[in-house]
Amino acid sequence: MNEINLELKEQANNYPSLQLTDRHLCDLELIMNGGFRPLSGFMSKNDYNSVIRDMRLSNGSLWPIPITLDVNDKFIAEIGNTSKITLRDKEGFVLAVLEIEDIWKPDLKLEAEYVFGTNDTKHPGVHYLLKTCEKNYIGGKIKKVLDPNHHDYRKLRHTPDDLKSIFKKKKWDQIIAFQTRNPLHKAHFELTTLAMKELNANLLIHPVVGMTKPGDVNHYTRTRCYQHIMSEYPENSAFLSLLPLAMRMGGPKETLLHAIIRKNYGCTHLIVGRDHAGPGLNSNNEPFYGPYEAQEMLKKYQDELGIKMVPFKFMVFLPKSGKYKAIDDVIEGEDYKTLSGTELRELLDEGKGIPEWFTFKSVAHELELSNPPLTKRGFTIFFTGLSGSGKSTLANGLVNRLLEEGSRPVTLLDGDIVRTHLSSELGFTKEHRSINIKRIGYVASEITKNGGIAICAPIAPYEQDRAYNRKIISKEGGYLEIFVNTPLQKCEERDSKGLYALAREGKIKEFTGVSDPYEEPTDSEIIINSSGENPEILVKKLYEKIVDMGFIEVNK
Ligand code: PPS
Repeated sequence: MNEINLELKEQANNYPSLQLTDRHLCDLELIMNGGFRPLSGFMSKNDYNSVIRDMRLSNGSLWPIPITLDVNDKFIAEIGNTSKITLRDKEGFVLAVLEIEDIWKPDLKLEAEYVFGTNDTKHPGVHYLLKTCEKNYIGGKIKKVLDPNHHDYRKLRHTPDDLKSIFKKKKWDQIIAFQTRNPLHKAHFELTTLAMKELNANLLIHPVVGMTKPGDVNHYTRTRCYQHIMSEYPENSAFLSLLPLAMRMGGPKETLLHAIIRKNYGCTHLIVGRDHAGPGLNSNNEPFYGPYEAQEMLKKYQDELGIKMVPFKFMVFLPKSGKYKAIDDVIEGEDYKTLSGTELRELLDEGKGIPEWFTFKSVAHELELSNPPLTKRGFTIFFTGLSGSGKSTLANGLVNRLLEEGSRPVTLLDGDIVRTHLSSELGFTKEHRSINIKRIGYVASEITKNGGIAICAPIAPYEQDRAYNRKIISKEGGYLEIFVNTPLQKCEERDSKGLYALAREGKIKEFTGVSDPYEEPTDSEIIINSSGENPEILVKKLYEKIVDMGFIEVNK
């Protein structure tokens, strides 16, 4: 039951309010529910300094990664001398009051270096610190008003106390936690089963559903997969609970955090695999941490933390016996199979199906549903170029070709259409153009997410806005940017709307190419110049490129 502290809520209305980010919300939930015990608030300056340098709170308790509340300068100015602030969720619900102990400007580069051992923004934790994080930290104790509300999978969410009492009722006293941010397959099932047998223990499948690595399978799909796999375990041997953690992908240090959390949730063991909580490759395409650094780290501190590590055995499939085996136990010359994440994605992209030796049928079905083959996935074609460059002609031609093909609904978001229906109040300042392009990006990302095709054809003169759209749309499906690089002179000669003439006369201000900038794209998938070739031929070429990319069935 999510009980509310009405008295505090009343008082909270008198303090300056901060709307929390996704990261803050995850951290706050674990602070308030005891998942981050002994933390009782966002870190004070003392604790922060001590954690980044020595991995310990100022009272000496082991704590590997700072848990901080970052805010912008505007908010700092707003709070003035107040000693308390109110923390709200995105809908405005009051969740907590923070009693301010410290406000300071952290050295975020130093933090990245100390905590993650690098300043390379390819590391998701560093990227967050250096690109997203605000420049001030506020530290202080938290007084809870209300736990964050979740509308999804409520029955699968538990506080540490909930889980402990569930374990007690079940009379489980040896509980192995399995941390994951991926769907589970047969290899995971085999290794968790093996761990349970070896230790005569029960299992907590404890997937992270807060923030994971960008590009991960969404938590709805994952949770459906977990639910299927739960029915494969012997009755009353395993339990599923979702963890609202914001991962930092901090490798060895994050492994310690995972151990602290699982101890708080009543577990006695934690399975730690190769490259646990690994952030992927750095700018030189090398791993940030050694494959077994995480295991070494927890081995060193497991006694102090009071939770034991179960080192992950990498399981491989032996086609001859039809069984799984730890790779270390495979005899020389014995044939075995594994499937990497990339290979799995390729199978899904090509609609080839996932082999049954690799995953349970029910799990494969969920993954296939949420990752249809490219020929059934949504995508966006984003034209950019000067006014009169030929974007609209090409976009219209392509729309018609795709409608003839008929595999998905097609939506045209041409510059003029958008300015009539979506952005009618906007002008042509940098700020307004940016809002306009982001609106187009938002609509295109929704269309893409829902399996349609969005064809966008605004000028989109600023690189930053185009990059933003690329990022949000690529998450949902395919993305193809086409730079219609028709020279200004040619666009001006055409001047089909008579706007260039007016711009030259100074009657239209801020006209792109004349009195306003156009930042030429450098990373477009296709660059075309419409001044030479017939539009029909160009449309044909574009269509062929889309076929080549795998989004359209060949010969359609
Ligand atoms: S932007 O920069 O992407 O937001 O512009 P967009 O929404 O594509 O709108 C461009 C169309 O508006 C007309 N128009 C102007 N273009 C550029 N600069 C100024 N100041 C301007 N004022 C009006 C112009 O007809 C553009 O249409 P297209 O289809 O590009 O020729």
